[in-house]
Amino acid sequence: MRNLTVVLLMLIAGAAHADEFTKEDVARWQAEYEMVAREGRKLWTSGELGTNGVACAQCHPNAANTHAETYPKFQKQLGRVGDLWEMVNWCIRNPLQGKELAADDPKMIAIVSYIHKERKGVPLAPGKH
Ligand code: HEC
Repeated sequence: MRNLTVVLLMLIAGAAHADEFTKEDVARWQAEYEMVAREGRKLWTSGELGTNGVACAQCHPNAANTHAETYPKFQKQLGRVGDLWEMVNWCIRNPLQGKELAADDPKMIAIVSYIHKERKGVPLAPGKH
């Protein structure tokens, strides 16, 4: 019983410890995010994701009409409820004639980071049309 108490205390202490972070940590994490979002903007404006030279920015300047805050939602093109990254892939496949990316591909993370950066502050409205 005493051993169990010790183990539990260690677990609680460990969990509390894991939550600690410094201002420097927060600054570093923010900088990491900004770097990834900048990478996303580069992809957004370059046409690098496709094969026909078309860039996302041609139809969605500054991520216009991406409506990130409405996801997940029913999307006609998918025929079901889908997430933002699936519409990123829909546009890579169709207007850009490119190869779709895995959800956790660093390029997909960058694109999604950029879209959310442009839509920052817009209230979440999942499912909205
Ligand atoms: C030739 C124009 C064109 C290009 C280029 C294009 N898109 Fe789209 N995009 C569309 C159209 C049309 C839709 C469908 C509109 C709808 O039904 O909401 C769409 C929808 C989207 C949506 C969902 C919008 C919503 O309202 O829910 C996202 C996200 C998106 N595009 C991202 C991208 C990304 C990322 C790229 C570049 C890889 C890209 N698009 C390139 C035309 C384009």
